[in-house]
Amino acid sequence: MRLEEAKRIIKETLPEKRYIHTLGVVETAIQMARQYGVQEDKAALAAMLHDYAKYRNVSEMQRVAVELGLDELLNYDEELLHAPVGAELVKRELGVEDADIYQAIANHTTGAPNMPLLDQVIFVADAIEPNRHYPGVEQLRQIAQEDLTQAVIATLVQTISFLCKKQTVIFPLTIKTYNAFVPEKRKGTVL
Ligand SMILES: [Fe+2]
Ligand SMILES: [Fe+2]
Repeated sequence: MRLEEAKRIIKETLPEKRYIHTLGVVETAIQMARQYGVQEDKAALAAMLHDYAKYRNVSEMQRVAVELGLDELLNYDEELLHAPVGAELVKRELGVEDADIYQAIANHTTGAPNMPLLDQVIFVADAIEPNRHYPGVEQLRQIAQEDLTQAVIATLVQTISFLCKKQTVIFPLTIKTYNAFVPEKRKGTVL
């Protein structure tokens, strides 16, 4: 699927605010892809489609999650469903067969311990795109310009601490992702 076609579909599918967010993720993902050696066209398309299922009704998303064997997700915040379900619906409904794009969409909310660079770019771009406004976002943007691994860790810290402050349960995959990425930074030159 070409980016322009995906853009047209997303404009029709998502409310204005979420569409503007999506365009911000696309712009940020393209910049980050260039910087970190990720295929730009894949980053752009994954970013454009990442929130495709965001406004589906919960029972529909739960049904698809069960079909995918992701029953465990039903015990956690409904917000988590739209990522893996979105990946599947982008494949089923839009015919996007690219496995890399599928995985990047599926991992964009929780992260995953072995995320490839494309997934890392989408994960971070979703959190720092220009229309995001929350305390600490400027620092995250700064880190994302310097080191992708650090940016993934900082995004996870932001997410986990936000959930802790709300006293919300945390999906174990997010903790596993954090535990997988934190030792990475010791191998690198940063920190
Ligand atoms: Fe999302
Ligand atoms: Fe998003």
